[in-house]
Amino acid sequence: MFLKGETVVTVLSKKERVLSEIRDHVEVCTRCQLSATRNNTVFGEGNADAVVMFVGEAPGEDEDTTGRPFVGRAGKLLTTVLHSVGLKREEVFIANTVKCRPPGNRIPNEEEMQCCFPYLEAQIAVINPTLVVTLGGVSTSFLLGEKTSISRVRGKMFEWRGGKKIFPMYHPSYLLRYHSQKPGSPRYQTWKDIQEVKKTIELVGLAGHGS
Ligand code: URA
Repeated sequence: MFLKGETVVTVLSKKERVLSEIRDHVEVCTRCQLSATRNNTVFGEGNADAVVMFVGEAPGEDEDTTGRPFVGRAGKLLTTVLHSVGLKREEVFIANTVKCRPPGNRIPNEEEMQCCFPYLEAQIAVINPTLVVTLGGVSTSFLLGEKTSISRVRGKMFEWRGGKKIFPMYHPSYLLRYHSQKPGSPRYQTWKDIQEVKKTIELVGLAGHGS
């Protein structure tokens, strides 16, 4: 960003420009019924060059109001989880499986996720992260293409589409219901999992992140 006369000029990288074009499509999307009840689309936000991308389920009320992902109670906890290993939200990219809030925060159905997938797919293709962290069972099962139990697959690496990895973690909304941090508890497992994520970022940083 720089000042040109009185005008603030933001210089976008090529990836940021392409993401902005995808966002323009998302903002006017009517591919599924969720468009009829949304207040705002929630495209996602973060670093266009992120090594790690987090993919949640769907926007909730706060996200629908602000147009930003993970800004409610669950989002604040996600931010805390990131901070626990020295990561900032701006360093990663945060998105969702669907870009519009399902009424009453119900789980998005298969058709809605399929309709929205080209946008997520395009985001992943542009950002080209090494690791896609799926948050919770819905985004994990959808991206892995099979119904899975999050407690069985969290903390494990899955090969995805030649070269990328999917790393499932508990959804922060789930963690809001369990406060214990004892070994074996969901929160304890999440602190372990985010340390693995941090390790990947460090390894890729050492190797250099190609685009
Ligand atoms: N839950 C999600 O899955 N995504 C959000 O953006 C907020 C809450």
